[in-house]
Amino acid sequence: MDTFVIKGGRRLRGRVRVNGAKNACLSQMAAALLTDEPVTLRDVPDLRDTRNMVTLLESLGCQVQAADDFHQHKISVTDPSQSVAHYNIVRTMRASICVLGPLLAKRGKARVSMPGGCNIGDRPVDLHLRGLRALGANITLHEGYIVAEAPAGGRLQGAGVFLGGAYGSTVLGTSNVMSAAVLAQGTTVIESAACEPEVADLAKMLNAMGARITGAGSPRITVQGVESLHGTDHTVIPDRIEAGTYIMAAAVTNGDIVLENCPTDALTAVLDHLGHIGVEVDSATGQEPGGSASEPGADDPMRRSVRVGSCRRLNPIQVVTQPHPGFPTDLQAQIMALLSLADGNSIITEKIFPDRFLHVPELARMGADMIRNGPSVLVSGVRQLVGAPVMASDLRASAGLVLAGLAAQGTTIINRVYHLDRGYERMEKTLQGLGADIERVNVST
Ligand code: EPZ
Repeated sequence: MDTFVIKGGRRLRGRVRVNGAKNACLSQMAAALLTDEPVTLRDVPDLRDTRNMVTLLESLGCQVQAADDFHQHKISVTDPSQSVAHYNIVRTMRASICVLGPLLAKRGKARVSMPGGCNIGDRPVDLHLRGLRALGANITLHEGYIVAEAPAGGRLQGAGVFLGGAYGSTVLGTSNVMSAAVLAQGTTVIESAACEPEVADLAKMLNAMGARITGAGSPRITVQGVESLHGTDHTVIPDRIEAGTYIMAAAVTNGDIVLENCPTDALTAVLDHLGHIGVEVDSATGQEPGGSASEPGADDPMRRSVRVGSCRRLNPIQVVTQPHPGFPTDLQAQIMALLSLADGNSIITEKIFPDRFLHVPELARMGADMIRNGPSVLVSGVRQLVGAPVMASDLRASAGLVLAGLAAQGTTIINRVYHLDRGYERMEKTLQGLGADIERVNVST
């Protein structure tokens, strides 16, 4: 099992390119099940989750040809008779649920293991099932599996669907219902759809395959069903959560970095909050230290080159995580690490996954001063964090601990970094390239 050993106190400097978005790519890989023609995806991040999705698609009768050092996939359906997403794969990645809609729409049936919970909280799928039932699917639960069948005749029927839940909409639920609706007979209107950029990018890819989707990225998505889809060649949007993580890594070390391929247009709330904290994120001129000219398309608001700097004094703020375009729950642990060094008291409230605080006691081991009260945490800024052995518990909590370790005095040992490998491509290499003193150490246990 791998650990990270971080010797803190180094200011990050240099240039890093943001990878393709994990949370766009996974549902786009699943969408390849909707066509008999090959689908090519570019800028696929090399992660445990994307590799698990390849394994899942292969078990569902797909051939996946990876190229360009795993960053390009050509996905072809070779055996459409397989429609079971087995527990042994789904339990490794709950996002596997995103094959349910495409399988149901294209093959008329699906058996997908219930994903189960995880460390950030219960992960129900009731909204997914509500949406697919609205399209006429017959769905039962049997021995831990979701068993779904299209109506007799095999085609789903367009309908009005409301996807609002107690914690807002559902990102993968919207992706599932939208993907299923593209082959349904008639028109589907999804009300209270998730507005995340990853949903909009999936719709862009599906439309390039011949779907007729409007409104993606807004709370109301309209899908006019078509008979079939053809293949496409799609480039995954940059990962706004990876970008936000490295921006905060620069800020917490009082560094000075340039981020290329940065989706600033998907980070409005994050950049607004960071601005109030005292973190400047400006368009890079291309003349920065250690820099080459910005990457082509730098004027694309989803692929900008930006320079990150910060004041030595960080201001405290209030943060409330919300569905997009609000502040993303996936950057909550990271901004908590940053605010643990602010000059005053901050309050962080988690509205999406109210128990997503496993990083709090670990940050406290490093000297952070925090008090949790239900879905909120009061963060009293301290002058210095101190390195310590800590335990990673989930993907984004682990990222928060890395940021704290980069800023801390002394050495931080982060155990179970396999959590990080799910969503960050070789994070230690990226941080080493920015001057951090971080090593991946294999601890045989
Ligand atoms: C996606 O998960 C992301 N994962 C998560 O990122 C992200 O935290 C989450 O959206 C919220 O933005 C992927 O895209 C692969 P939800 P998803 O359905 O779609 C409740 C990461 O770190 N809910 O939008 O599974 C749910 O419990 C991961 O990259 C229901 O009640 O999340 C939660 O409180 C972690 N019923 C809220 O809605 C349902 O049927 C939002 O969940 C579905 C969800």
